[in-house]
Amino acid sequence: MPILGNRIPPGPKGLPILGAALDLRDDPLNSMRAMVREYGDVVRFHVMNRERILLNHPALIHQVLVIQHAKFHKSELTRRITVRILGQGLLISEGDFWRRQRRLVQPAFHRSRVNDYASAMLELAEAHVHGWRDGDELNIAEEMMALTLGIAVRTLFGSTLPGEAADVGRAMTFLMRYSLRRQRAPLRIPQSWPTPKNRRANRELAFIDSLVYRIISERQASGNGNHNDLLALLMGAMDEDGSQMTRQQLHDEAMTLFIAGHETTAQMLSWTWYALSQHPAAEARLYEELRGALDGNPPSPADFARLPYLQAVMNEVLRLYPPAYIMARETVEPCQLGAYEFAPGTTILFSQWVTHRDRRFFDDPDEFRPERWLDGLADRLPPCAYFPFGAGPRRCIGQGFALLEAATVIATVARRFSLRLVPGDPVVPEPLVTLRPRNGIQMKIHSRE
Ligand code: HEM
Repeated sequence: MPILGNRIPPGPKGLPILGAALDLRDDPLNSMRAMVREYGDVVRFHVMNRERILLNHPALIHQVLVIQHAKFHKSELTRRITVRILGQGLLISEGDFWRRQRRLVQPAFHRSRVNDYASAMLELAEAHVHGWRDGDELNIAEEMMALTLGIAVRTLFGSTLPGEAADVGRAMTFLMRYSLRRQRAPLRIPQSWPTPKNRRANRELAFIDSLVYRIISERQASGNGNHNDLLALLMGAMDEDGSQMTRQQLHDEAMTLFIAGHETTAQMLSWTWYALSQHPAAEARLYEELRGALDGNPPSPADFARLPYLQAVMNEVLRLYPPAYIMARETVEPCQLGAYEFAPGTTILFSQWVTHRDRRFFDDPDEFRPERWLDGLADRLPPCAYFPFGAGPRRCIGQGFALLEAATVIATVARRFSLRLVPGDPVVPEPLVTLRPRNGIQMKIHSRE
């Protein structure tokens, strides 16, 4: 029993052994919301006999991510999905090792550096929509994934591997699906068994590993000069004692930035087009703002401060459709959260999907209303009522990068096209590694020109 003291948080009983597993498997988003509605800000439930604690109040989430962060590690759940692909990269490493790596990687994400990537983001966004024609019907989720993948490859590796970008994307997508399926499977077949899926996973992993190591070797041999990309910054990063990252560390961090960066941003963009298609007044207001501020020119980082409605749209999309919809931690020391005391080894969860839709902090929480952000709401909210990029020392290192990329893509597309949903199957959020639209989003392109 990981609860210390004599107070135990309330929660559903569920079936013996399975606990709440079936509800959570069938509809995790609604069942988490239902638990919080019924049991409050601290809920205890079981999945396959394992205890989980779900926190909903921002003050408690703030305790975990910020105030008492040293008492928590990333949970076993996070590590199990990704460790083989990401090695000891920033997303999963811990302790002093994580601290040193974060120190080394952080300068690559300084605002002035990130702005250097704006021209590559713009160029790739323009090139991507160049082929769109009035009346085309496209799966916009696939379009956004291809675009952010291209941006991730270019900003990480420069133009070192243009021909192989599509192969890298295919391999990565397979590996993420494969890892998640393994994580969710009731019976886990050892990875060393030669099933077709395991064999393909090993092949894809070997392909990406050898590619990344080859690029690192080539650059080491040629002195790493003349490259203006994230990998060059990682290779040049030096700690206070003059030490640099090993080849393995460079590989792990590059893979981590690649994985952490492109799918999340793709989902954010897909949900943006969906939300705008459902709210024509918001779409029209955004278009008018872009027309007035850009005057027919492509967007640049200096423009975004003059585009408050675009910022509000992005905030609102990340509130209602947070690509990272759930976070998990494990206690490594006893800790007190609200009225409860938890022993080491307790798994604590909190969900952006749930907290961002809490009516104590957001009026009409299920409504898409970008206007709510225009009168200083962000400054009035308590810490961690809105946390699409996490919070505390482990908050997303790529936040500025993601927001610049999203703003660039949205401005590039929205000033030239209007995207309408093709009637058909309803668009349903599917909570996998990120929150994605199940079956994609089929949209019709209307040119404004
Ligand atoms: C809309 C896009 C994005 C969202 C919603 C998002 C969300 C998040 C969240 C919630 C975390 C914290 C996870 C935790 O504490 O458990 C995180 C961490 C991280 N993100 Fe992002 N992210 C996005 C884009 C990016 C991009 C573009 C990059 C890199 C290019 C990136 C790299 C990372 C890394 C390396 C971490 C781990 C940081 C650490 O623990 O030190 N993310 N992200």
